[in-house]
Amino acid sequence: MKKFIEISVAFLSVVGIVAVVVHLFQVAPPQGMALPPGSEWFAEQLPRYKEHPILEHVHILLGGFFILAALIQFQPAVRARYIGVHRILGRLFVISGLVMGASGFMLGMLIPFGGSPERIVVAAGAGLFLYSLLRAFYHVRHKQIQRHREWMMRCFSLGLGVAGNRVLDGLLYPLQLIPDRDLFWITLLLAWVICLSATEVWIRKTRPQFRPGS
Ligand code: HEM
Repeated sequence: MKKFIEISVAFLSVVGIVAVVVHLFQVAPPQGMALPPGSEWFAEQLPRYKEHPILEHVHILLGGFFILAALIQFQPAVRARYIGVHRILGRLFVISGLVMGASGFMLGMLIPFGGSPERIVVAAGAGLFLYSLLRAFYHVRHKQIQRHREWMMRCFSLGLGVAGNRVLDGLLYPLQLIPDRDLFWITLLLAWVICLSATEVWIRKTRPQFRPGS
């Protein structure tokens, strides 16, 4: 299972970084070609980000930082050898995560591609994301390292769920079963549920019987 988790995390991290780069450079499919999340997304949704350029860029750039920083923070070798780096990067991670989650929440409220259902899904996801981040911070401040690790894993899995949304949307889009706008929020919800469930299984499997400092 460890290998499966590692491959999934690596894959979703690459998807997340690619999503950031593609968005920053406004890569759009050639005219007449239908690509996920759908032609309406490229024609109508993408220009709507320009109504909130600061929110857009803050969210997307911090999203990229979030993934890269998390990959470093979860390396046992970095924690063992460079605990100072882990602490400094950890503080930056918490601050940038709070701004990234809040800006994601705002984007979801202001310009949801999937309309009101997306608003509800994003409010729940952003709430859980911010709660996990703050819980992880609280536990490390109280030297409860095992709990800190578990809440950071939940937080990271919710971040990666956003990349999972792109993957699921890309897989289901060609079937054209439901409108693109609905597929967008349904796959976001699904991705968050799958990522969080896998994380809970992994946490329970790797949780020490005796939890020192927890
Ligand atoms: C891993 C960290 C994250 C990355 C890399 C990331 C990246 C992005 C990118 C690139 C977009 C622009 C849409 C696109 O081009 O695909 C976007 C939009 C958005 N993000 Fe994030 N994001 C992350 C985390 C989050 C989190 C935790 C939330 C939860 C609140 C969130 C909520 C949103 C929303 C609501 C939008 C607007 C979607 C729409 O068009 O309706 N993101 N994000």
